[in-house]
Amino acid sequence: MKYIIHGACGRMGRVVQQLFREKLPDADLIPVDPMGREGEVYRALTDYRGPGDCIVDFSHHSATLELTAYASSRKLPLVIATTGQTEAELAAIHEAAKSVPVLLASNFSLGIVVLTALAKQAAKAFPDADIEIVEAHHNRKLDVPSGTALSLAKAVQSVRPGSRLVIGRHENGKREPADIGVHALRMGNVVGVHEIHICTDTQTLTIRHEAHDRALFAEGALTAAQWITTVTPGMYQMQDILKGMLA
Ligand SMILES: NC(=O)c1ccc[n+]([C@@H]2O[C@H](COP(=O)([O-])OP(=O)(O)OC[C@H]3O[C@@H](n4cnc5c(N)ncnc54)[C@H](O)[C@@H]3O)[C@@H](O)[C@H]2O)c1
Repeated sequence: MKYIIHGACGRMGRVVQQLFREKLPDADLIPVDPMGREGEVYRALTDYRGPGDCIVDFSHHSATLELTAYASSRKLPLVIATTGQTEAELAAIHEAAKSVPVLLASNFSLGIVVLTALAKQAAKAFPDADIEIVEAHHNRKLDVPSGTALSLAKAVQSVRPGSRLVIGRHENGKREPADIGVHALRMGNVVGVHEIHICTDTQTLTIRHEAHDRALFAEGALTAAQWITTVTPGMYQMQDILKGMLA
């Protein structure tokens, strides 16, 4: 198998390359990154015209149009881990999924898939509870709130018709019962913490996930990269890989 690693020189790209080499010693890796060293790394996707089986993307959302155009034109399945896409960029991803399989996930951890399922269950069990989501990440993270916190909030919203996402709370005023608050902390070297607080007047249920090592996301990306080459064009998420497990 030949895996094109897009964003290969970033924090995640380096961990992904290391893990793929370790777990898939027979696979070929094709690193692409504008910051890469000439001769070792392709500076742009379009510089690589050789064969490939899948693209694994941990780059920047501004590369989305180039990424999706390349994947569609070359019929290459896509695993997109990059977060922070604009509406137009998300539309381009959905367009690409008409011709190639695309797995888009804001978090590749199995723990987050389980956390999301538990959060929906808890939101249903306590329909009148106040729900607040708090995430923490390292001080170099660019997007706020995290893609994972937004996905969690939308999952909770899907079982709470009429609810409203409140990203941060910047104005004075009372909390509305239908609000789902999302809050971000940026500090130190925190890999990723996501907490969902489900609070009634008499009790609080807190569900928490903490990532200890970036390798966690690379492991999920590796599972996704192997799986995506076996399915037909369309949009997929981590839940699709783990369907049997969560039933
Ligand atoms: N889905 C997940 O589980 C998960 C986990 C961790 C990080 N992420 C996301 O992955 C992305 C990368 O994270 P990171 O911590 O490695 O960031 P980083 O800034 O360390 O690395 C990003 C890399 O992408 C490269 N890049 C920038 N523009 C590019 C372009 N147009 N084409 C190709 N490469 C380009 C940069 O040169 C850099 O080497 C972020 O969006 C982050 O939120 C997702």
